[in-house]
Amino acid sequence: MADMTLEEKIGQTAMRGTSSRVKGALPEALKQSVREGRAGAFLNVMNTDYVDELQRIAVEESASGIPLIFARDIIHGFKTIFPIPIGISATWDEEIARTAARISAIEGTSVGIRWTFAPMLDIARDSRWGRIAESVGEDPYLGSLMARGYVEGFQGNDLTDPTSMAACAKHFIGYGAAEGGRDYNTVVIHEPLLRNVYLPPFTAAVDAGALTFMSAFNEVNGMPATGNQFLLKQVLRDELAFNGFVVSDWNSVIEMVSHGVARDKKQAAELAAKAGLDMEMTSQAYEKNLKALVEEGKVSMEQLDFLVANILRVKLKMGLFDNPYRDKDRSAKFYQKEHLEASKDAAVKSMVLLKNEEEVLPVASGKKVALIGPLSDAPHEQLGTWTFDGEKDKSVTPLQAFKNAVYFAGHSNGMAYSRDTSESMYEEALALANSADVILFFGGEEAILSGEAHSRANIDLPGKQEKLIKKLAATGKPIVLVIMAGRPITITNIIDEVDAVLMAWHPGTMGGPALYEVLTGVQEPGGRLPVTWPKTAGQMPLYYNHKNTGRPADSSSFVHINDIPVGAWQSSLGNESHYIDAGFTPHFPFGYGLTYSDFRYTNINSSSPTMTVEETLEVSVEVTNTGDRQSSEVVQLYIRDLVGTLTRPVRELKDFKRVDLEAGETKTVSFQITKQDLAYVNHTMKTVVEPGDFEVWVGPNAMEGLKVAFELK
Ligand code: NOJ
Repeated sequence: MADMTLEEKIGQTAMRGTSSRVKGALPEALKQSVREGRAGAFLNVMNTDYVDELQRIAVEESASGIPLIFARDIIHGFKTIFPIPIGISATWDEEIARTAARISAIEGTSVGIRWTFAPMLDIARDSRWGRIAESVGEDPYLGSLMARGYVEGFQGNDLTDPTSMAACAKHFIGYGAAEGGRDYNTVVIHEPLLRNVYLPPFTAAVDAGALTFMSAFNEVNGMPATGNQFLLKQVLRDELAFNGFVVSDWNSVIEMVSHGVARDKKQAAELAAKAGLDMEMTSQAYEKNLKALVEEGKVSMEQLDFLVANILRVKLKMGLFDNPYRDKDRSAKFYQKEHLEASKDAAVKSMVLLKNEEEVLPVASGKKVALIGPLSDAPHEQLGTWTFDGEKDKSVTPLQAFKNAVYFAGHSNGMAYSRDTSESMYEEALALANSADVILFFGGEEAILSGEAHSRANIDLPGKQEKLIKKLAATGKPIVLVIMAGRPITITNIIDEVDAVLMAWHPGTMGGPALYEVLTGVQEPGGRLPVTWPKTAGQMPLYYNHKNTGRPADSSSFVHINDIPVGAWQSSLGNESHYIDAGFTPHFPFGYGLTYSDFRYTNINSSSPTMTVEETLEVSVEVTNTGDRQSSEVVQLYIRDLVGTLTRPVRELKDFKRVDLEAGETKTVSFQITKQDLAYVNHTMKTVVEPGDFEVWVGPNAMEGLKVAFELK
């Protein structure tokens, strides 16, 4: 750094892009900017000749010889596409996140990408928000496990290995709390909430060694994250001791002008630099203004050196100075057999069975199924959001997976796409339904209806899917609704019409074979909800770890809208926190998911009625597989701190274990509770463990379970 000019230092903070579609010779201006040391990183350079050439110029022709780093949004797979991240969270298995990330890195690094903008670790409590699809879900504990899995998977065991891909924990922070679920919207999070709920996955990412962070588009409590000294300096650098680098989100530096905290781009650059925002994505506020800001003494050289050192440290750690070039012999690694197997495995384990009446699933042998619905053969849609490099030609759809099977009675889309309102194909679909034993309806959302900038106010099935389902149900044939979507879909209007509901998220390249195996019982659906499933969008935000309030909702005093007398005298009917129409419970709670078997929980036991902060309390429960097939249960442990100096959530997930049980088998499942499980950040902003009474539930989801109490002395 001592040898670098001011311009070269500023150059390191610049991330440039080329269009992924650019063909032909590399633009001369771009080459010259690299030669002059005016770029530190590139995004979306998907032409490997460009990657090789730009890197060669940086290393051989620029004065400093500092290598570039190439970035891309590789979110849930590069070529082999895995389920969308919320689906990966539904596996409740960090190993799946690790494997998906490792395979993504192996495939992506082969074209020279050594840095991904993932994982997205935003806690999301609102299914209207389109980016819930990319999120780890609503729970900080589950989100933290996923964070660790992703970071370790992308980066691998050795950062200098050519398959190691720098992870980017994003979006720091609070992006998932956008008001009303409207993307990019205002975020208000009080500090204890920030620390207790939104921060833990990011802390886990730092602990796992994440090399980079991305600042969020949004403001938090009045200050955009990108220029937020409290977040970027105090929390991230001083408290979490993060020593990688922070990149802005796309144009988020100059968007501080629109936010209204900077009068112009120059002031935006000053705010960002002073907050410790190291690299600027796409906009050029640093490039155009940092020199003047340094010369005017508004940004000190020391401050600039801090940014540059952070960036260079990451490049050094990744071994880019020793080995800057792409390994040209590895491009054949796409869609390896084990990659496709892992993608299928993740999809099977992500699928959440929400309803299964009369055991319509798994489809019994000898039955013939009709495949109907807009997602039954939609190779592009099943890949989900953020799949720039996924190829629909490689997707295996449900139709492809079923069509040669003995189960297959026929296929009829019924609708051309998920938003279709035409009824012209109904007749054919109904005729097919009448000829089959079971109807498999593949509905949901097209990929583009979730993800960035795709929030929805109404999260019912789009188009006329409900109408078609009702007509199909009227045939009297059993009907299974398979949902492929980027978010929970409200199915209140339709659930009674169908016999089974399977949430498949957007399952990725191998969605078809995974669904075939799950629907026919070769495998069980392994998923549990990583988010609360609402009855109606009007309940949002909705999450299990809410506060009790002064008037907690209670079914014994709840009065439904239809039970209120006409002309009723003004009264606070029911006297509690609920909706008179939608009530207060979700459609399905966090943690929920059926299997093809049944489980019974008995004999909860705690090793003592009291514990101290030095002690460990053991809580155990017996879980029995009461069904007639081998199955696995995700046994979940929730804790409630009854009295705190700040109000505490009604339940918090603190641990879980997946147990495999043969039919009829009983296992004792034990959990160790330590002071970490009882700690939280209170109004002093300190992590505290407060003596008093606690309740513990062990059960199959956030609303059920056996309870035991203890006192922390
Ligand atoms: C904007 C998105 O918010 C972010 O997640 C993504 O990584 C960047 N664009 C780059 O594509």
